[in-house]
Amino acid sequence: MLDKEQIQELSMKFEGAQPQDAVSWALNTFGKDMAFACSFGMEDICIIDMILKVSPDARIFYLDTSLFFKETYELIRKLEDRYIVKFESVKSECPLEQQAQQYGDALWKINPDLCCSLRKVVPLKKQLSTLKAWMTGIRREQAPTRANAKPVEWDEKFNLVKVNPLVRWTSHDVLGYLLKYDIPYNPLHDKGYPSIGCEPCTFPVNPGEDARAGRWRGFEKKECGLHK
Ligand code: ADX
Ligand code: SF4
Repeated sequence: MLDKEQIQELSMKFEGAQPQDAVSWALNTFGKDMAFACSFGMEDICIIDMILKVSPDARIFYLDTSLFFKETYELIRKLEDRYIVKFESVKSECPLEQQAQQYGDALWKINPDLCCSLRKVVPLKKQLSTLKAWMTGIRREQAPTRANAKPVEWDEKFNLVKVNPLVRWTSHDVLGYLLKYDIPYNPLHDKGYPSIGCEPCTFPVNPGEDARAGRWRGFEKKECGLHK
């Protein structure tokens, strides 16, 4: 178990290192007690590649809300074929039909926080309760709420170590990595969707808008609750 001081030291160390160094350290330190939470956004595909180059049987899961774009589901299959892996699908205990019966057909239109909680946050909490660390693809540049994210930090919300190898990368770095290794990514990124979540809550962004402006358009909501 790492104490707060050790976490701070590690964070400072990886601040000046390559993302791959943090990825390798985390895989070697935590093994199967760590999992990568993957949304299949551009960042996350870089991390998949970094992880599987070091540890082909590392744990990679996605919170399958049952509401992804068809392009996202196709990308998942494509990546599984390319890397010869099966990503772990983590589903809500409340199937969409049950959610519709209890709260109406489109809960995301009336209470997206509750919908994200049922479809993402509760399943994530359960998944993380069995782990010592998790890895994510968040970057500082993505949002003011992420500007202080560290390469290694203690996740107060879920009570485990959180590793964010790409915190310092720009969107340019991310795309550069994908092109360098010829890795497939979601075709929606080239159609005005820099940040992709569930289909009902993800819209294209206009020129000059920030990358996450198309998420939950029309609501104050900026985060789905996975990150503080
Ligand atoms: S969020 O608002 O959906 O949390 P974003 O799409 O920017 O934000 O994703 C940030 C990080 O959260 C991703 O890099 C990934 O680690 C994690 N994440 C987001 N959505 C999912 C998902 N459906 N399954 C697993 N991890 C996810
Ligand atoms: Fe529901 Fe939208 Fe959150 Fe997906 S992003 S879980 S559809 S509110």
